[in-house]
Amino acid sequence: MAKVKYGFIGAGSIARWRHLNECAKINGAEIAAICDIDKKRAQERAEEFGGTVYTDYKKMLKDADIDAVIVSTPNKLHAPMTIAAFKAGKHVLVEKPMATTRLEAKKMIEAAKAARKYLMVGQNQRLMPPHVRAKEILKSGRIGKVVSFRSEFQHPGPEGWSIDGAKSWFFKKKDAVMGALGDLGVHKADLMRWLLDDDFVEVSAFVSTLQKKSDVDDHGMILLKSKKGIMGQITASWVNRGPENNQTVITCTNGTIEIGTNPDYPVVVTYAHGAGRELHEVGAIASNTNQTGSGIMDAFHESITKKRKPEIDGNEGYASVATILTAMEAAKQRKTLKVK
Ligand SMILES: NC(=O)c1ccc[n+]([C@@H]2O[C@H](COP(=O)([O-])OP(=O)(O)OC[C@H]3O[C@@H](n4cnc5c(N)ncnc54)[C@H](O)[C@@H]3O)[C@@H](O)[C@H]2O)c1
Repeated sequence: MAKVKYGFIGAGSIARWRHLNECAKINGAEIAAICDIDKKRAQERAEEFGGTVYTDYKKMLKDADIDAVIVSTPNKLHAPMTIAAFKAGKHVLVEKPMATTRLEAKKMIEAAKAARKYLMVGQNQRLMPPHVRAKEILKSGRIGKVVSFRSEFQHPGPEGWSIDGAKSWFFKKKDAVMGALGDLGVHKADLMRWLLDDDFVEVSAFVSTLQKKSDVDDHGMILLKSKKGIMGQITASWVNRGPENNQTVITCTNGTIEIGTNPDYPVVVTYAHGAGRELHEVGAIASNTNQTGSGIMDAFHESITKKRKPEIDGNEGYASVATILTAMEAAKQRKTLKVK
């Protein structure tokens, strides 16, 4: 079988540390093109990983040999680039948040359908080993039904991550639209929807800019209620000091699952009424300072080669970003709103 040829739009941090690195390790995948408006950046990555350099993604999309495209640019560009890629007949893996409005997200889903190509969204928290283990435990039914949860994603901010540091687009509303909620909150909204096998129907939230010099939020707290009646809270923050916090605690009728609270055991299950504990030694959650493989490129490649719709498709990306957009609206209106 011929190799799947990938074109990368955006040669910043996520492309460098995850997508290109992960793609280079896949048998049957070829890094065919790398595009960034910063030519030097694209050239540096091409020297490391191979591929033709472009500074205009529309020109790159004209290359008929490219089968699939990875969009990892500022949030505002996700929709136009994804739609253009579908019109050029490519499969697309787009980074999270998949879009900055519901309408954009819907148009992306429609464009994929019209092109008969796959749309996958980079909601990689689902693929992290501790989260996969927690899902298995929940599915087994041994700790009963989920009652409530808290899930946190907090780090010191994108200045320590983005290739442009403190000058990054992450801090500019015109490029990012959303701040910590769109960056980290959407990861947790998606993770919890997947872990609970449920959808959020109502949210209220506090969202603020506490410390960063930015016109987007840097700290947000959301209260959520699911279709099944589960209640939970998500905190997303760029103002964390100390180590990155990516913790989730899920309370069930027969016990509690803790993810990321114990440094030795990524998953701990404590049964109710002193009925014992399970200590799970599974692989770590990738963090900004610990770049373990995210599995996202492998999953995208598998979809393409096995001709199987990606699990994290446009509809999943839509439901997760819609939760966050509704939370932002709820915070602004100081109301509890139905997720739409
Ligand atoms: N899934 C995850 O865990 C995860 C982690 C980090 C970032 N992300 C997402 O990935 C996307 C990119 O983030 P990043 O951290 O790599 O940002 P970054 O700032 O490090 O890099 C963004 C790159 O996009 C380039 N760019 C901007 N406009 C462009 C254009 N018109 N054409 C081509 N290139 C263009 C910039 O020059 C820059 O090199 C964001 O949507 C972000 O939310 C996802």
